Amino acid sequence: MWSLQILVNIFILHFLPIKSKGLTNPNVLIILVDDFRHLSEKYLDLPNIKKLADNGVNFKNTFVQQALCAPSRNSMLTGRRPDSLRLYDFYNYWRDAVANFTTLPQFFKENGYDTYSVGKIFHPGVSSNFTDDYPYSWSEYPYHPPTEKYKDAPVCKDRTRKTLKKNLICPVNILHQPGGTLPDIESLDAAINIISKRNSSKPFLLAVGFHKPHIPIKFPKEYLEWIPMYKVKPPKHPFMPQNMPIVSWHPWTDVRRRDDIHRLNISFPWGTMPYDWSLKIRQGYYAASAYVDDLIGQLISYVNMRKTVVVVTSDHGWSLGENGLWAKYSNFDVALKVPLIFSIPGQSPRSVDTPVELVDIFPTLVDYSNLPHKIPKCRSNQDKSLLCFQGKSLKSLITKSQMFGNYFAISQYPRPSVYPQKNSDKPHMKDIKIMGYSIRTKRYRYTEWVSFNNTLFTIDWNKHYGLELYDHLIDPEEANNLYLVSKYKNIKQYLSTLLRSHVNRNYN
Ligand SMILES: *[C@@H]1O[C@H](CO)[C@@H](O)[C@H](O)[C@H]1NC(C)=O
Ligand SMILES: *[C@@H]1O[C@H](CO)[C@@H](O)[C@H](O)[C@H]1NC(C)=O
Ligand SMILES: *[C@@H]1O[C@H](CO)[C@@H](O)[C@H](O)[C@H]1NC(C)=O
Ligand SMILES: *[C@@H]1O[C@H](CO)[C@@H](O)[C@H](O)[C@H]1NC(C)=O
Ligand SMILES: *[C@@H]1O[C@H](CO)[C@@H](O)[C@H](O)[C@H]1NC(C)=O
Repeated sequence: MWSLQILVNIFILHFLPIKSKGLTNPNVLIILVDDFRHLSEKYLDLPNIKKLADNGVNFKNTFVQQALCAPSRNSMLTGRRPDSLRLYDFYNYWRDAVANFTTLPQFFKENGYDTYSVGKIFHPGVSSNFTDDYPYSWSEYPYHPPTEKYKDAPVCKDRTRKTLKKNLICPVNILHQPGGTLPDIESLDAAINIISKRNSSKPFLLAVGFHKPHIPIKFPKEYLEWIPMYKVKPPKHPFMPQNMPIVSWHPWTDVRRRDDIHRLNISFPWGTMPYDWSLKIRQGYYAASAYVDDLIGQLISYVNMRKTVVVVTSDHGWSLGENGLWAKYSNFDVALKVPLIFSIPGQSPRSVDTPVELVDIFPTLVDYSNLPHKIPKCRSNQDKSLLCFQGKSLKSLITKSQMFGNYFAISQYPRPSVYPQKNSDKPHMKDIKIMGYSIRTKRYRYTEWVSFNNTLFTIDWNKHYGLELYDHLIDPEEANNLYLVSKYKNIKQYLSTLLRSHVNRNYN
């Protein structure tokens, strides 16, 4: 009997404290920044995000599943790939179109959390049933900043014309804006209000979605002073990659359409941005990022970091002139790579190079919430069980218990045609004829553009429209497609097999 007591004591003393290092039901704060690429430029000063990255777990190679808002957000929030949700555009809602899958916030809500959405978390509209998936995902009706309705209003001063325009680059005096504020400032206030005024003994999951630096790049003009023009560098490789298949290209029509860019008469679809405008857009994007960084700092100052797991990420990246491209809509690294930072109570700082994906966030947060769970891996894309994961928990990478392993990220992008046309950026489902599947390992990016049947949802690997291989060890800009270089034959074969088996497994 004695020895049993001793064993029990040993168990309590030595095992439980280890386990209790992880908080039971910590609060969760998800900060989702819209169109916020992974910013590695050394001269950029984003002090608040840098502080979170330096003190937290910084995943430096994180890739999204598709470089478009609605598919990426629904994928991240359900933990399923776009092929499972059958969403590559903006126009279906998985509960009605595929199955009644449980979302990340819904899982927390059903396990005793109060869940709140502020700003842009789900993409609004059809893909979240015009309710941001309320009431399934959220305890209260999602908050949207009232001044978001002016997002495309002509409010940008055009110095030469003295009129108000719908410009791409739009530094503003907040006091002169309709409502005397900007949407992200209203979202910040709403989020702070929830954190400081809520009266509940339950833990919370709060998701805050900032709209900037999404276009129009509208921000308080003071932030331009943070990023003086002399500090702004052009993209290292502003031309189309060598030997790029033309199906990879997209014509960034939403950028061309804005008043300030439209009058430059850039020829469609191959014309390039004038040098001075490249710099101006980059400056504006960085200034808008600095503005959001400031809002994040203010939000974090209200958060009890010892009781809260914080995640900072984005729905996808944004090309800033690299390879002659702007905006998202591609399978290049700059469009697919995003920041991913976890701040976890009790976890020492760490920086991780291993490639990870946004579908990994849901399982990771479930792991760190210490909620009772036994959520299986999805068997395939066709797995209709309400709760299963296509990604994996990153806990073993975070605690460093597993440093090696076959980690890679799989992304995809649809096209209506090989030759770039008006709808190449955002084809509707009915127009999709080609799917580009891309795999990113630590060293390589390998992409196959193949025939896609949009009624049967089948792919034909033998009908390809473009093949790409980029070696990040010697070519971080992805400026040179090595597909035809014979010395890469073996690695190409290896990556092709890996990509196809992974995508096929998802299909069968
Ligand atoms: C979908 O799931 C939600 C949440 O569990 C449930 O309330 C709803 O009834 C389900 N809908 C259908 C059609 O099964
Ligand atoms: C989506 O919205 C429509 C219209 O309001 C509603 O009839 C339908 O039940 C909603 N779908 C789900 C799954 O709640
Ligand atoms: C919090 O809610 C409880 C129960 O609804 C109520 O009794 C209490 O007065 C509230 N406290 C505050 C500070 O509002
Ligand atoms: C663009 O085209 C318009 C109409 O053809 C012309 O008036 C304008 O000067 C052109 N602008 C530039 C920057 O070339
Ligand atoms: C997809 O498959 C169906 C059935 O075989 C066929 O009728 C249709 O034409 C195919 N669509 C495309 C775009 O090939």
